[in-house]
Amino acid sequence: MIIGSTKEDLTLEKRVAITPDSAKNIINLGLKVIIEKNYASHLGINDDEFKKHGVQILETSKEILSKNNLLLKVNCPDEDEIKNIQTNSILVGIINNKKDNKKIKNILSKKVKIFSLELLPRITRAQSMDVLSSQSNLAGYRSVIESINEFEKAVPMMMTAAGTVPAAKVLVIGAGVAGLQAIATAKRLGAVVSATDVRSSSKEQVESLGGKFLEVKQSENLETSGGYAKEASDEYKKKQAELMKEALKKNDIVICTALIPGKPAPRILNEELVKLMKPGSVIYDLASENGGNSAYSESGKINTVNGIKIIGTKNLMNKLPLTASNLYSKNLFSFVRNLYSREKQKFNINMDDEIINKTLVQEKS
Ligand code: NAI
Repeated sequence: MIIGSTKEDLTLEKRVAITPDSAKNIINLGLKVIIEKNYASHLGINDDEFKKHGVQILETSKEILSKNNLLLKVNCPDEDEIKNIQTNSILVGIINNKKDNKKIKNILSKKVKIFSLELLPRITRAQSMDVLSSQSNLAGYRSVIESINEFEKAVPMMMTAAGTVPAAKVLVIGAGVAGLQAIATAKRLGAVVSATDVRSSSKEQVESLGGKFLEVKQSENLETSGGYAKEASDEYKKKQAELMKEALKKNDIVICTALIPGKPAPRILNEELVKLMKPGSVIYDLASENGGNSAYSESGKINTVNGIKIIGTKNLMNKLPLTASNLYSKNLFSFVRNLYSREKQKFNINMDDEIINKTLVQEKS
C-alpha cells in the first residue's frame, strides 16, 4: 500500500502533512511513501532527508495522485488535484464540511473515502491524533507572542536604577486548549495573568497555571457532558459584560479564544467594552476566522480604535510551520496506524471503530 502527499498551496499553507520522522514511522508499518519534489524545501527540509528513510520523490502531484492508495494532506486538495485523485483511494486531512463542501462532493463522486481529523471524537484513544488540540496549543502560545510584538511596552516587571517598570496585565477569555497555553505563555514572559470561562471547572486549571480566575456568579451549568461550552443565556451575558467592564480598564493585552463547537464565535466584547481599554492596549482575537469574540476584529487585519489595536488572526500556524508540521504529521501517523491492518496489509475501514466512524466525511444533502 502506498501513502502519498502533494505540496500545499504555499501562498496559503506552509505546514506539511509528512515530515522525515513521520515518513520513517509510516515506512516501519510496512507502507511505501511517495511525495512531490521539493515537498518541504520551504521549511529547510530537502528531499534527501526524506530519501534516506526510503521515501520516493516524484516530479509532479499528478504522478503521486495516480499511484497512491491514501493521500495525506493538510487542507482539502484543490480542484486540479481532485481531477487527478484516484478512484477508490482514501484522503486524510483537515477537511471542513462547510468551507470545502463543493470539493467534498467532487471527491466523493470519485468514490474516495474522506477522513477529516476535525471530526475526531475527544476520547482517550484519539488523543495522539487530535489535531485541534495540537494546533490550538500552538495557537495559544503564538497569540501571546504576536500580541506582545504589537504591544509597545515591556511585559515583565523590571527594577532598574532609572525606576521600576510594572508588569503588563494579560486577560485571557476562554480557558480551553488555546487559552490555557496562552495563560502559561504570558506567565512565563512575566505578565500578571487573569482569565475567564463559562465552565467553572476551568477555574482550577487557570489557577494551577498561576492565573487569577474571573468568575461570573450564576446558577447555570454551561458545560456539556463532553466537557464543551454551551451557549450562555442573556442574563449570563449581562453579568459577564459587567465583569469584563472592570477587567478591561485594568488589562493591557486581551487574548480571545472563546468557542462553542459548531456555533459562530460568541461575541463577548462589544464596541463599548473595547473602548474601555487604555490607548496602547492590544486585543488578539483567535476566534476572528469564526466571527470573532471582539468588536472590530477582522481576520488577517489589525484595526486601531482609540489607540487600541484589535488583531484578527489568519493562518496563524504559518508563523510556526515547522513545529505545527511536526505535531500535525504525528497526529496523522497515529491515525494511519489505527487505519492500517498489518496482517491484512490493507486499510481497514472498520465502522465499529468510533474513531473511523466519526471522522468519515459523509455528503451533506
Ligand atoms: P476550546 O473549545 O478548547 O476552548 C474554548 C473555550 O472557550 C472553552 O473553554 C469554552 O468553555 C470557552 N467559552 C465558550 N464560550 C465562552 C464565553 N461566552 N465566555 C468565556 N469562555 C467561553 O477551543 P480551542 O481549541 O482552544 O480554540 C480556541 C479558538 O482558537 C477557536 O476559535 C479556534 O478556532 C481558534 N484557533 C485558531 C487557530 C488559528 O490558526 N487561527 C488554530 C487553533 C485554534
